[in-house]
Amino acid sequence: MDVIKTADIIYFSGTGGTAKVALALEKELIKNNITVNTYELKGEFKEEIQGDLLIILFPVYAANAPKSIDEWVKAAAFGKGKKSAVISVSGGGEMIFNTACRLSTIKSLAKNGYDVFYEEMFVMPTNCLMANSDELNAMLLNVLPQKAHKAVRQIITGNLHTKKPLIIDRLITKVMLIEKYASKLFGKHLTANDDCNGCSLCADNCPRNNIIMKNQKPVFNGSCVICLKCIYSCPQKAIMSKYIKSFIIKEGFNINAIEEKAKSIKNYQPAKEAAKGFLYKGVRKYLEIEGY
Ligand SMILES: Cc1cc2nc3c(=O)[nH]c(=O)nc-3n(C[C@H](O)[C@H](O)[C@H](O)COP(=O)(O)O)c2cc1C
Ligand code: SF4
Ligand code: SF4
Repeated sequence: MDVIKTADIIYFSGTGGTAKVALALEKELIKNNITVNTYELKGEFKEEIQGDLLIILFPVYAANAPKSIDEWVKAAAFGKGKKSAVISVSGGGEMIFNTACRLSTIKSLAKNGYDVFYEEMFVMPTNCLMANSDELNAMLLNVLPQKAHKAVRQIITGNLHTKKPLIIDRLITKVMLIEKYASKLFGKHLTANDDCNGCSLCADNCPRNNIIMKNQKPVFNGSCVICLKCIYSCPQKAIMSKYIKSFIIKEGFNINAIEEKAKSIKNYQPAKEAAKGFLYKGVRKYLEIEGY
């Protein structure tokens, strides 16, 4: 592969985990004398990308990419064979159900003239259902620079690093497209209770422009992607969801607070203890491979 001199990272992030991966990759690329432009997909996005390498980065949503990523890759200017990497970030890691999550993005990019030669999964503290232990979150944040270093080394070599997902995973990915419809419903049925002080933080920060302020109260519309940002970052904890309440971590989710807490955790159990059980299989593997 020709030497990479410039790279564009296009990413979507709801609650900040993927943003931290973007930063870690950016740092590694810069260390390798590559000029990087990093763009977050938020609301209207019209930047033209011009680097030698395109990195698409997103959180896994129901075994797929978020709608903002689908929209961007479908509308992107013709790739003319531009080298591209697709990197997903999940709570569960590379395991059944998640392993086909990059497929539709890769397909759309290839259809649009991009040469996707690299795909990878990163794992970050999960932002839904059940919080990880503080120790496991600390391990995931601690291993991030090492993972970013490895990914950038692999990308620079230009060797093919893609894989064929299992048929079952392809089916799961298709079935889970239902989430795209469910998210519309979810978004329309979010409400703010009387604790809302009208600060408009939720409306200003929604990456889908799904919230408008009316009479000092947020009104939620139909372009939600269930990123959970508004719910977790409301200073008054005023935003409630009518549906799939159990999906939201009761204690809340704040990646910066998790990172702060992680700094005080210096000793870890082996990954096989800290990430026990079938549901953590992908997380365990992700850590064990790095010596945890
Ligand atoms: C709507 C939604 C669906 C999710 N689906 C999955 C999933 O299918 N598999 C998984 O491992 N993690 C899933 N997660 C967890 C996120 O992928 C994970 O926490 C990620 O780090 C969030 O990134 P962010 O902080 O940049 O938004 C989901 C999270 C949300 C909000
Ligand atoms: S962030 Fe919370 S308090 Fe502020 S306007 Fe939105 S719902 Fe109300
Ligand atoms: S309404 Fe809330 S959950 Fe939906 S996209 Fe906007 S910030 Fe995310």
